[in-house]
Amino acid sequence: MTERTRPSGVAIGQERPGPASGRVLASVQDLRIHFRTKAGLVHAVDGVSFDILDGEALGLVGETGCGKTVTARSFLRLVPMPPGVHAGGRVLFHGRSGEEAVDVMTAPEARLRDIRGNRIAMIFQDPGKALNPALPIGDQIAEVLYAHRTDEVLRRAGVDPTDGSVAGHLLRRMANQRTRHVETLALRSPGVRAGARRVRAVVEEWVIASLAETRIADPRKIMKSYPHELSGGMKQRVMIAQALACDPELLIADEPTTALDVTIQARILDLIRELQARHRSAVLYISHDLSVVKRVCDRVAVMYAGRIVETRDSEDLFRAPLHPYTRGLLAATPSHREERVRLAAIDGTVPELIDPPPACRFHPRCPHAAEVCTVIDPPLRTPHAEEGEVACFLYQTPDEVGVEPEQMPTLERTR
Ligand SMILES: Nc1ncnc2c1ncn2[C@@H]1O[C@H](COP(=O)(O)OP(=O)(O)OP(=O)(O)O)[C@@H](O)[C@H]1O
Ligand code: SF4
Ligand SMILES: [Mg+2]
Repeated sequence: MTERTRPSGVAIGQERPGPASGRVLASVQDLRIHFRTKAGLVHAVDGVSFDILDGEALGLVGETGCGKTVTARSFLRLVPMPPGVHAGGRVLFHGRSGEEAVDVMTAPEARLRDIRGNRIAMIFQDPGKALNPALPIGDQIAEVLYAHRTDEVLRRAGVDPTDGSVAGHLLRRMANQRTRHVETLALRSPGVRAGARRVRAVVEEWVIASLAETRIADPRKIMKSYPHELSGGMKQRVMIAQALACDPELLIADEPTTALDVTIQARILDLIRELQARHRSAVLYISHDLSVVKRVCDRVAVMYAGRIVETRDSEDLFRAPLHPYTRGLLAATPSHREERVRLAAIDGTVPELIDPPPACRFHPRCPHAAEVCTVIDPPLRTPHAEEGEVACFLYQTPDEVGVEPEQMPTLERTR
């Protein structure tokens, strides 16, 4: 693996698992995903860059329509193209094992299959839609194991994965679900029947253990159920069990609790945090709700209108948000009710992402906007005396930007 590490240390919250090594596990570099629509080209993700460190929980937050899901789905190349267009940039998966980084956006499909659901897994907002209604829960989790853990399944069943005999070949085909009809019949022959039974038993126990980890009651019964027989919270636990069955290096959770009621939300959040610590996976946690992210994440990336506007350690960001948009978002969370007044100052909605102008996209809503903000797009920079990055001229000097002081915004000046 690349030895790239993040230059500055990352604060590890006492109660959180935190980044294991500071190594970069995955990095999004200047990613641009656009959509062709009748109205024009929608710049949904427009120059997004951030790193995910091994073992950390990184939150990706922002209002609806700012590009969080498109960014998240890009990690598994799940954005439909067309209408999507990969207009530039990379999503590099460095992984833990030392091999060369893979650019998910351009990797061959076979390479991607090895990563998807195995090394990078995803939990979706609506588990009802993500699960197959026609298959029992257990079969759906087993599919992931058959697809990605053939050798491990065979070893646990007492079969040498390198066994080149006919029986070994048949069992290997069975353990990755590639059997044709004639092979299924051959698996019933006395020489291989016992091995086939052991393989099935191993997969079944593995599925039960994965479900039990999510503290689902009676996993043996649940694995035989169909999705429609389960509540929303249970379906989400099944999704989590399926996502973690292969011990992924990176788990992507896109608004995993939004469809659930509040008490279940808290339990699912705690479960994700606990399982992350046990599996030592990195997590990209997507939410429009900063209070949720505060509960789960070590670092936070704030997205606005297809761009990252601030990336900081969670503690720093919640103590002293820098970007005016982050301040507004934070002021809107219940624990910062006293700041609600300020939110009125950044009223408005996310701008149209068709042909956005080369300026700060937040300027129509920003209380501090100045002349430079309406003509130049602020780059992400590490602010003076702070860690992390912010894209705002409030934290740059006129010399750095190349304009006159009176053209620059100041925190004191509001409009
Ligand atoms: N298949 C598509 N065709 C056209 N436009 C799309 C498509 N998918 C997403 N978009 C557009 O891309 C932009 C970003 O969408 P995305 O779903 O990533 O937002 P989001 O931040 O996840 O919002 P939410 O919080 O509502 O989930 C939006 O303007 C959306 O309309
Ligand atoms: S001060 Fe200027 S650059 Fe910073 S967020 Fe406001 S409009 Fe954008
Ligand atoms: Mg979304």
